[in-house]
Amino acid sequence: MTEELEEQLTTIEAHSLCQLARCSSTEELEQWRVAVMGRRGKLSVILRSLPNLDPSTRPVIGALANQTKVRLEAALDKRKYFLLNQPSDVELADKDRIDVTLPSRSIKSGSHHPTTQIVKEISEAFATMGFQTIEGPEVELDSYNFQKLNIPLDHPARDMWNSLWIKQETSDQNSSLLLRTHTSPMQVRVMENNAPPIRVLVPGKAYRYEATDATHEWQFTQIEGLAVDKNITFANLKATLEEFAQRIFGDQRRTRFRCDFFPFVEPGAEMSIDCFRCDGEGCRVCGNSGWIEILGAGMVHPEVLKGVGYDPGVYTGFAFGMGAERISMLRHGIDDIRHFHLNDLRFLRQFA
Ligand code: PHE
Repeated sequence: MTEELEEQLTTIEAHSLCQLARCSSTEELEQWRVAVMGRRGKLSVILRSLPNLDPSTRPVIGALANQTKVRLEAALDKRKYFLLNQPSDVELADKDRIDVTLPSRSIKSGSHHPTTQIVKEISEAFATMGFQTIEGPEVELDSYNFQKLNIPLDHPARDMWNSLWIKQETSDQNSSLLLRTHTSPMQVRVMENNAPPIRVLVPGKAYRYEATDATHEWQFTQIEGLAVDKNITFANLKATLEEFAQRIFGDQRRTRFRCDFFPFVEPGAEMSIDCFRCDGEGCRVCGNSGWIEILGAGMVHPEVLKGVGYDPGVYTGFAFGMGAERISMLRHGIDDIRHFHLNDLRFLRQFA
């Protein structure tokens, strides 16, 4: 009798587990539960027959039956959990579908910054006139930024450039360091290390202690030019810069030179182009004057030539300096110099 019941329990368990594995919905699971553990279920029938058993076998069979019930209940829970977490047929169908009409992701390639672009363009224009492009240090000595450019210590002309000084232990002003306020110190560095003839273009960053607004940045890009040789005259300066202006702003542009002061040139000048917006009529871009100033220039001062060991009686030269961002702003109608450093992709992508 005992063995028979034991066998029955084993069979019920094996069978039930088989059927459970085939259940694939909550309804089927419920049917299974009723058939096995419901009031008239296979297991319940056995459990209910326990009181009729011989008292000596009752505990053994009772324990077995209960263990079977616990295992089947656990199996049911497991199956239920499995089914609930199974993706539905709809989900499966969706996941497997590949939408071949979907456009692919575009590969975005970068481009040169507008400042880099204008520097390159200007360098190329001057390269065809024999100017070699070089670079120089951004941290500069007082002597190169000022003194060797005919701007002595404590000279009021220093006020033309609000400087960013670098704090140092020394109180010796000759070795004072600053962020260069212009690229002009490279005039001296080039002449000190080379004999004429010289024709160089020096683009690079310059720094001024200034509040930022639409036309001023405390860091900007300057492009310096220097030509030194025998018989260089102001006419060479004008012809070279006129050629440059037409290359960058178009054949139609006229240029105007007016007197200006820079301690390291004599005579000094500023160059303007006639306004490309109104053709010289007067508009918002040119402040109604018809002219737009684009650079400072002049003949290298004899004192500067002497300082680098050139004989001003033999050699003469011209120099000029312009703001790269300013040229780019005029070229492209950019209204605010701060755009150049904001890193706004909407701005930058227009130059791609
Ligand atoms: N370095 C001058 C400036 O920053 C510009 C300049 C360069 C003028 C060369 C004359 C000659 O204002």
